[in-house]
Amino acid sequence: MTSQHEVQSQHGTRPGAWPEQYELTSARLNRLAGALNAASYLEIGVHTGVTFQNVRAARKTAVDPAFMFDVAQHTGDGVTFAEMTSDDFFAGLAPAECYDVIYIDGLHTFEQTYRDLCIAILHSHARSVLLLDDTLPSDVYSSLRDPEECWGFRAAAGVDSSAWHGDVFKVVFAVHDFHLGLDYRTIVGSGNPQTLVWRSSARRGRPVLGSLEEISRMTYFDMVNLAHVLRECDEERAITECLTAIGEP
Ligand SMILES: C[S@@+](CC[C@H](N)C(=O)[O-])C[C@H]1O[C@@H](n2cnc3c(N)ncnc32)[C@H](O)[C@@H]1O
Repeated sequence: MTSQHEVQSQHGTRPGAWPEQYELTSARLNRLAGALNAASYLEIGVHTGVTFQNVRAARKTAVDPAFMFDVAQHTGDGVTFAEMTSDDFFAGLAPAECYDVIYIDGLHTFEQTYRDLCIAILHSHARSVLLLDDTLPSDVYSSLRDPEECWGFRAAAGVDSSAWHGDVFKVVFAVHDFHLGLDYRTIVGSGNPQTLVWRSSARRGRPVLGSLEEISRMTYFDMVNLAHVLRECDEERAITECLTAIGEP
């Protein structure tokens, strides 16, 4: 997520997120959760917990190796804080555990986010929805895997922005080419672009890249040239198509 105010992170002090971005995300998640009558919510990558605390569900699970808030102040019925990496969390999760709404916003690298998505799907059901953050980098700097390089190169170029998305956009290409059992739309035009993913047996298509290795080597400009793969659309259409597809008009 992008931001302005300074926060402490695993990468040292970095610009923090715009509160509006968090509000947009929690409103999006609450709209999905409300339409699905969702009872369970999983968030991978929670940071200061702004989104997590605003999402409404009876059972909520937060996963982050280093929460940036006092979890003891927010512990309550149905709330679980797992202070660990997503890999450790999923390794210890009972196979039958399922979530209605899953928000993936952890480490901003292709491999980690792709692995988070693949495992999260195993803990979803036919009517679950998954929201992936950071799938549309705002510029070439934002798409760099190392946040310090992103901010350093951008500052050197005199460009004023603190956005860092990493190379999470490649996950959308992996879903497109290798997961025909999933459908997705990338929400644009209403702030904080994100990709909404759901299970589907209806999506058909041919791969655009030959291999995962080729996807992993994509640049920001490759992404721009193949932007149709992101299946961008506005929020209203993305949510309507998702809910209709999973049987929740
Ligand atoms: C952009 S912040 C999350 C913001 C939060 N989702 C929100 O909307 O308020 C990314 C978070 O991912 C966490 N993170 C980094 N590596 C992780 C991993 N391997 N597993 C889970 N979370 C991770 C970081 O500690 C950081 O707090």
